Order: sequence, then C-alpha cells, then structure tokens
Amino acid sequence: MVQINLPQNSKVEKGKFFKDKTGSKNIRKVNIYRWDPSTGENPRIDTYEVDMDNCPSKVLDLLNKIKNEIDPSIAYRRSCAHGVCGSCAMNMDGKNGLACTKPHSEIKGDINIYPLPHLKVLKDLIGDLSTLYKQYESVEPWLKTTLKTEKENIQSKEDRAKLDGLYECIMCACCSTSCPSYWWNGDKYLGPAVLLQAYRWIIDSRDEDRKERLKKVADELKLYRCHTIMNCTNACPKGLNPAKAIASIKKMLATS
Ligand code: SF4
Ligand code: F3S
Ligand code: FES
Repeated sequence: MVQINLPQNSKVEKGKFFKDKTGSKNIRKVNIYRWDPSTGENPRIDTYEVDMDNCPSKVLDLLNKIKNEIDPSIAYRRSCAHGVCGSCAMNMDGKNGLACTKPHSEIKGDINIYPLPHLKVLKDLIGDLSTLYKQYESVEPWLKTTLKTEKENIQSKEDRAKLDGLYECIMCACCSTSCPSYWWNGDKYLGPAVLLQAYRWIIDSRDEDRKERLKKVADELKLYRCHTIMNCTNACPKGLNPAKAIASIKKMLATS
C-alpha cells in the first residue's frame, strides 16, 4: 500500500455522500480525495454511488462519469485517454497508475482514489509537478550535437536498441512518487523518472555530451540517494525499469 502524504496539521475528514439516483442494482462506492487548499478547509473524502451498468471499463471512465453526471466540481488531469500523455497518473486502490489504463474491475470492494503520494496538492487529484519538471529540465533532455542540422545523424540498429525501455517513458511520475527516497529528499534527489530520462540521453550514441551529463548527475544527493528500493519499477504503468537505468548510470560512473 503506497502511503499518502497529507499536508501538515491537517486531517482527512469524512466528506459528502452522493447516493445513487438511478435505481441501478449494480452500484459501486467510489471514495475520492477532495481538497482545495485555497479554502483553508481540511481535505475530505467524498463518496459516490455509481451505476456500473452504464460505465465503461477504466477508472478514468468512472471519474468522467462522476464528473459529468454526479459532481462536476472534482478536479483531475486527463488528456489522451490511451496511456500516452501521462497526465491521469493518480493513486488507485493504494497503487500509483494511469486512470485511463487501469480497469476498475481489478479493484475489489470500494474504489479509493487519491492524488499521487507526497506531492503538494493543487486541488483534489491534481499534484504539483513543478519541482519534477524543473529537475527534468536540469538534465537537458535533448540531443546535444555539433552535426549540422541538414546532415542525417546516423545511428546503428544496435545503438538505437539501447534506447528501448527508455524512450517509452511518458513522464507520468508514478515511479518518483512511489519512491521513499524521493518522498523525503525530493528537492535534491532527482528521482527515478528524471534519472531514467538522464540515462536515455547519456547512452544515446548521437549525443556528444556524455561525459558532461555523467558528471552532472554524479552527486551524493542527485543520484546516490537511490537505495535500490525498487518501488519505482513496480509502479511504472508502462512496464519500464527506472531502477535498472539508475544502476546503469552508477555502473558507468564506477567504470569511467
Ligand atoms: Fe512514468 Fe514509468 Fe516514466 Fe516513471 S519510468 S515516469 S512510471 S513512464
Ligand atoms: Fe527509489 Fe527506485 Fe531507487 S524506488 S530508491 S529510485 S530503486
Ligand atoms: Fe493520457 Fe491517461 S489520459 S495517460
């Protein structure tokens, strides 16, 4: 079960109860974390009874149904609805994942939906990712080359294959927000999402900045706060292995 970090000096209260009005015999209870920090009120859990006979299969469908038919005030991010934009990452049934790819049938009992753990909450299910994005920018996630743009930048099939398992990352932050080291040192430790991205550019054969990139992450706090806890790899909804990417960076540093 992934722990949820609540704001200091606040407690989660039992919130509103939205009883089913359809008369459906196929009802599920959905508990959703609600909080608007600008109100000065405590966070609360609102409960919704949802008619599952008329609800498509994913948790995002469930949220959309609640927002469209029961309570338009719930705030959450979503865009592609196909697991490619990363915006609908949240904590469902105690596990981080993408609401648009997670079938609600996999959740037994009440469906509990929280924001990603240990982020500052902006509103309801929307966590503040600004620190993570600054960290992402700090690893300069773009190709650095002196090759003239009009020339083709050739890469062998073998070198291209080294990017498999890395380029697919959608920066959803499910991994970083499941990592205890990132929970406690998120302002300094880069965390698994950003380190996987750093490694993606470090091993790109076309990039001419490898040494400098390695030097930049070779830091007690930025990199070595990874203690191989492995939550990150278990949490990744795209089946990637950020723990392995971090281990590869450490190995490159140890042998360079
Ligand atoms: Fe999301 Fe996986 Fe990328 Fe982490 S490694 S940001 S969990 S896609
Ligand atoms: Fe955290 Fe993953 Fe390392 S959970 S400690 S980044 S192996
Ligand atoms: Fe894009 Fe879920 S809405 S990944």
